[in-house]
Amino acid sequence: MQLRSNGVIHLSDYDKRMTDFVRSLAVFQLKGGVGKTTTAVNIAALAAAEGIRTLVWDLDPQGAATWCLGAEPDLKQDKVWRDGLPIGRYIHRTPYDRLDVLAADISLRKFHQSVADKRSARETMSEAIDMLGEDYGLVIVDCPPMIWPQIEGVLQSVDRILVPVEPSRLSIRAYEQSRQQLEWVKKRQWLPFVTLIDRRKQAHVTWVNETAPNIEELLPVFIAYSASAERMLEQRAPVVSCLPHVPMSRNYRALWEAIKQKLPAT
Ligand SMILES: Nc1ncnc2c1ncn2[C@@H]1O[C@H](COP(=O)(O)OP(=O)(O)OP(=O)(O)O)[C@@H](O)[C@H]1O
Ligand SMILES: [Mg+2]
Repeated sequence: MQLRSNGVIHLSDYDKRMTDFVRSLAVFQLKGGVGKTTTAVNIAALAAAEGIRTLVWDLDPQGAATWCLGAEPDLKQDKVWRDGLPIGRYIHRTPYDRLDVLAADISLRKFHQSVADKRSARETMSEAIDMLGEDYGLVIVDCPPMIWPQIEGVLQSVDRILVPVEPSRLSIRAYEQSRQQLEWVKKRQWLPFVTLIDRRKQAHVTWVNETAPNIEELLPVFIAYSASAERMLEQRAPVVSCLPHVPMSRNYRALWEAIKQKLPAT
């Protein structure tokens, strides 16, 4: 399949600060509802606010990241992969400077059926990430909670994989399963971090102090459970943009700083 970039919004449209910053992140966790999309959208907003041209590539048929960023998809992303339509046509501007979204829609539910074999799925996604990297300083892929061959292709290609881990045995188990299943992912690619911590719960405090330190490659920051997450959905805007002073925004700024420390040098 040939990916054509016709229609991609070009660099000259944007502020050229930090154009030497070219990185890619996937937000991935087999366990659902742990804050992947919330993280993708907020980290993207922080990067864009810092001057980095940023794309959120929504790969989840729920299209939650697309929705959170205020975009309304008018095309089916599945067509990019089935018919080789130009990927740029699916990219929407958002209300935020330098932040675009490659919109997802329910057509992606059959995404895994759209490729002939695993190898071509991986190659296609790798090619797409490289191509998007020509126009964006940071590409953040919001993954669904599953391992399709295309998701494997994404995980193989990105610089780092952010894994939200909530304080539950199942969440840790899902991370461990991913590491076993995807044993070809390089150790340094994994960036797990703790989410949905409620400091009022003694069990969560104990979990943070005793269990979390055993998680391999854990980032030294965590995202607290916060009602601001719901307000973000009401406003269809990243919390760091619509509520920059709440603790959840501070948590995400700390996470973004920790991620930058772990990104490879260009
Ligand atoms: N720090 C937080 N505090 C409280 N609620 C949160 C927090 N982060 C996310 N949420 C809420 O948890 C729910 C799931 O979040 P989100 O959609 O980001 O998870 P996800 O891992 O992307 O889910 P899925 O696996 O379905 O894609 C949403 O209602 C979101 O608003
Ligand atoms: Mg999600």
